[in-house]
Amino acid sequence: MAEQPEKSVLVIHGPNLNMLGRREPEKYGSDTLAVIDMDLNAAGDKLGVRVTCFQSNHEGEIVEKIQGIPGSGIAGLIINPAAYTHTSIAIRDALLLLDIPVVEVHLSNIYRREPFRHKSMTADVATGQIAGFGKTGYILALEAIADMIC
Ligand code: DQA
Repeated sequence: MAEQPEKSVLVIHGPNLNMLGRREPEKYGSDTLAVIDMDLNAAGDKLGVRVTCFQSNHEGEIVEKIQGIPGSGIAGLIINPAAYTHTSIAIRDALLLLDIPVVEVHLSNIYRREPFRHKSMTADVATGQIAGFGKTGYILALEAIADMIC
């Protein structure tokens, strides 16, 4: 029998996450985004899923990236919308286009922080949310998605 093609998972990182390593390390850890993406790729290799990572500081670019998912073969999405979590109806509406597992990830526990971070515009349209475990949260999200799609 022909081998099944490897499943693809997209990871979207929102604004200011390109500054990880230098940005409030006491909240977000000292790893750079490149390290997080490398760890995700290594975890993907073990789980048998292909991981592609994308970062943008622009809401519209994130919306367009999500719009490109249907029909692309991407089978799961991990998204840390960063500050847009708390404001973006546009990203929420784009996520509603998807019928694949979506996990919202936050490095910090947003519910232990300022009240304006307690509200997520996107969590209730995602399959699930992981917050407060630092970069491990991305790996947990990948494992959860791999479980659902493989
Ligand atoms: C964050 C939490 C957001 O409130 C914040 O704006 C971020 C990062 C996190 O990963 O903990 O940029 O999404």
